Amino acid sequence: MAHMHITSWAVAIILLIVVAAMYGQGKMKPGKIVHMILRLFYLFILGSGIGLFMEYANYSTNLFIKVILGLWAIVSMEMIAVGGSKRKSVGIWWAQFILAAGIAIYLGFGVLPMGILP
Ligand code: HEM
Repeated sequence: MAHMHITSWAVAIILLIVVAAMYGQGKMKPGKIVHMILRLFYLFILGSGIGLFMEYANYSTNLFIKVILGLWAIVSMEMIAVGGSKRKSVGIWWAQFILAAGIAIYLGFGVLPMGILP
């Protein structure tokens, strides 16, 4: 489940950069297609995140913060993509995304107990 989670958000980050670049260059149609694939990966992140959550024995405050930040990161990604499709400036959402994803990754790898080993 952890591998699925890590793979999902890693691919999603790459797709987000591709979507932002395509919309930025005015390639709206291919951008839209990659955007739809990105949305599919939100579901993979959510599904694997919920799966990890259900494997827990002891819930901690850090875990709840991690889940909120994970959700916040996904919201930011969608706002970046939608903003890009309307050719709006989305710097504020990039900042929130980097903050939320950065702390989520720190908590996930550095603080929370579940590792990537089975
Ligand atoms: C872009 C968004 C996200 C990023 C970058 C992210 C990142 C991470 C990372 C780095 C880990 C540690 C993996 C491991 O060591 O096993 C992790 C674990 C986890 N994530 Fe996420 N995550 C995101 C979204 C979510 C969401 C939306 C949820 C909940 C629905 C969620 C729930 C969890 C849970 C429960 C764990 C297990 C924590 C642990 O290591 O003990 N994540 N995540």
